[in-house]
Amino acid sequence: MITIKSAKEIDLMRKAGEITALALQKVGEAVVPGVMTAELDKIAEETIRKNGAIPSFKGYPGYAEAKPFPGAICASVNEEVIHGIPGSRVLKEGDIISVDTGAIYRGYHGDAARTFAVGMISEKAAKLIQVTRESFFRGIGKAVAGNRIAEISAAVQEYVEKNGFSVVRDYVGHGIGAEMHEEPQIPNFAVKAKGPRMEQGMTLAVEPMVNEGGSEVRTLDNLWTVVTEDGSLSAHYENTIVITRGKAIILTVLDN
Ligand code: MF3
Ligand code: CO
Repeated sequence: MITIKSAKEIDLMRKAGEITALALQKVGEAVVPGVMTAELDKIAEETIRKNGAIPSFKGYPGYAEAKPFPGAICASVNEEVIHGIPGSRVLKEGDIISVDTGAIYRGYHGDAARTFAVGMISEKAAKLIQVTRESFFRGIGKAVAGNRIAEISAAVQEYVEKNGFSVVRDYVGHGIGAEMHEEPQIPNFAVKAKGPRMEQGMTLAVEPMVNEGGSEVRTLDNLWTVVTEDGSLSAHYENTIVITRGKAIILTVLDN
C-alpha cells in the first residue's frame, strides 16, 4: 500500500528533510583531502542529533547475514556505489565520495544523498556527478500527480544513457514516510509494469545511482558495500520529495 501523507505529516517530513540536508551540507564542507570517512560520519551524526532527530541508518538491520549498519552515513568512495561503511579510510585528492544519510524527526524520515569531489577531480568524474544530479531533476520533472512512477524511471535512464553512462538496476528508489523504505519501488530504468500512478501527498525518495562503465554491481565481503563490477566510478544523488498536482516539492533542502 502506498500511503498518502497529511499536511501535518508532510510538515514533519519537511523538518526531517531539512535536518538531513543540513547534515549533508556540513559533511560536504568537510570533504577535503586527508579527512577520514569516520570524521564525516561523526559530523553527520552530531548535526542530526543536535537538531532533535535520530540518524536512521545507524543500526539499520542488514540484509541476510549482514550486521546492522554501523554509521549515520553511507560513505561510498570512487567505484563504491552505495552502502560504503565509514571508517579509517582517508580521502585523497581526485577521489569522489557519495554520502547518503537519513534522519528521523518525530517519527518521520528524510533520506538524501550527494556525490562530492575531493579537491580537484578529473573531467570525467565531474561529468558523472553532474549527469547523476541532472538525471534526478529530469526524473522528478515527471513526478506529478496522475503520472506513473515508470515515467520517472524512463526519464532518469534516458538522460543517463544519452550521456554515455549506465544506471544501476539492482537498487532502486522508494516510498518514504514513517518508514525509511515504503512502497512503491522507484527503478532508475524502464520496466514493463508501468507501476502505480502518483497522487498528491505521496512522499518518495528518488535516487539515481549512475556508473561510468557498465551497470553491473557486486557486494563486498563486509556484506554491505556495493561496488561496480568493472571498477568504474559511480555517483549517487537522492532527495525526498512530495507529489503535488504541479511540480514536486523537494523536502531534503535547507529553509523549506
Ligand atoms: N538511504 C539508503 C536508501 O536510499 C539506505 C541506507 S541503508 C542503511 O535506501 F543501512 F545505511 F541504512
Ligand atoms: Co533512499
